[in-house]
Amino acid sequence: MLKLLMLAAIAALLLLSEGGMSARTQSRTKRELARPLHRGGIRDPFGSYCQRRGGCCPGRNDQCTVPYLDTICYCDLFCNRTVSDCCPDFWSHCLGTNPPYPPSSCERNGHRFHSGATYKENCNLCTCGQNGRWECEDHACLIEDDMIKEINRRSYGWRASNYSQFWGMTLDEGLRYRLGTKRPSRTIMNMNEIQMNMNGNNNLPSYFNAVDKWPGKIHEPLDQGNCNASWAFSTAAVASDRISIQSMGHMTPQLSPQNLISCDTRNQDGCAGGRIDGAWWYLRRRGVVTEECYPFSAAQQTPAEVARCMMQTRAVGRGKRQATAHCPNSHSYHNDVYQSTPPYRLSSNEKEIMKEIMDNGPVQAIMEVHEDFFVYKSGIYRHTDVNYHKPSQYRKHATHSVRITGWGEERDYNGRTHKYWIGANSWGKNWGEDGYFRIARGVNECEIEAFVIGVWGRVTMEDMHNHHGRRK
Ligand SMILES: *[C@@H]1O[C@H](CO)[C@@H](O)[C@H](O)[C@H]1NC(C)=O
Ligand SMILES: *[C@@H]1O[C@H](CO)[C@@H](O)[C@H](O)[C@H]1NC(C)=O
Ligand SMILES: *[C@@H]1O[C@H](CO)[C@@H](O)[C@H](O)[C@H]1NC(C)=O
Repeated sequence: MLKLLMLAAIAALLLLSEGGMSARTQSRTKRELARPLHRGGIRDPFGSYCQRRGGCCPGRNDQCTVPYLDTICYCDLFCNRTVSDCCPDFWSHCLGTNPPYPPSSCERNGHRFHSGATYKENCNLCTCGQNGRWECEDHACLIEDDMIKEINRRSYGWRASNYSQFWGMTLDEGLRYRLGTKRPSRTIMNMNEIQMNMNGNNNLPSYFNAVDKWPGKIHEPLDQGNCNASWAFSTAAVASDRISIQSMGHMTPQLSPQNLISCDTRNQDGCAGGRIDGAWWYLRRRGVVTEECYPFSAAQQTPAEVARCMMQTRAVGRGKRQATAHCPNSHSYHNDVYQSTPPYRLSSNEKEIMKEIMDNGPVQAIMEVHEDFFVYKSGIYRHTDVNYHKPSQYRKHATHSVRITGWGEERDYNGRTHKYWIGANSWGKNWGEDGYFRIARGVNECEIEAFVIGVWGRVTMEDMHNHHGRRK
């Protein structure tokens, strides 16, 4: 009995509002002109909207809305008039019928998907359009299957591979998040090269690897993740090796890139890029602690946290500095500060760079990273022409910085000799040859010989004694 009464009441309400509808139609222009929801660009028409709202509204009710993507949709009967602004589940939930617009669907892997469905194809989002066809974005991806195949099919002297950490990124994202060294200014590029006496010193070996000459003193490549800060990684790596070599292993600190990223903020942009000359200035004047003390954690931090410097240093006499705070993590107590001397520029002469590495240790180099470098797996890298026939969005490059730790040469099956540098990257140990790469030497490949930097650590006799007692 009660039920029947209620139904009658609802029917009356519906009739009432239907009646009122035509009278007020004039004032509805705004809503009628709203962008139709059911044409194009819909990413998710299958969620519950009217259902989630808790029901539908009889007649017209301009407040009967639910947020929908970047706009709103309606669950009142009025929306059914123009169909254009009803929520996607209006018909099924409010009327119990099928929507009046033609159902279109797209096929993929033998399955059918409704219009509006999406999937990600590598770095591009594809949407099932009203025409029943997938419409995909058109970005160049960091990993392009055909590029890998083409490089491996031809004999460029190096092999390419897929990397899951790069998969799904666009080439632009790779260049913007995996590198991060600003080209040095004109003044810095014009920095004097040191004069090297090469007389009687041309007996450089055909193979040299700093790892063999200084075991335990050359640090393994780190992973900068999506932190655009190779400026900090390459600088910290070269300084770490140099201090270890110079102190003859009394100190073997792995210096903290995070310390530079967070604290060397003058004209530097942390994980949004920076300059190596600024990094060297900081290492010389302020100094940094070890990676163990101030670990790299940009991946887990918000940009604001990354930007916050957790420790400064202060002068304690005789040019030495001390940290002003404990290590920003609970398991490390050694907050010793390490410093360098001013860096010096080497000439672009291959032999002089080799002599410097052999005598004093690894050097830092700027290089241009092209799209094919990301997929490098092994061999002697040279930038290839595999993408020359493609639109320019597939052929891009940006500046990076790396550490050079040695050299060698290799004979190919034609008996031709190929000379290479051994470089350490900062993309983790699963990239390239255990985090290292080899690149053509003596031809300024990717400008790697154009701007090469050496440095001395600031190591005193006192340091050697102090640190000696502390070695594990
Ligand atoms: C509302 O939708 C139903 C079901 O699709 C349809 O039969 C009816 O004609 C529509 N009403 C209006 C006013 O358009
Ligand atoms: C590359 O790796 C990703 C993630 O591991 C995988 O989904 C994708 O299918 C691979 N692509 C190719 C071309 O092998
Ligand atoms: C990465 O660093 C380079 C060089 O400093 C800069 O041009 C680029 O804008 C940076 N990318 C991002 C996402 O900040």
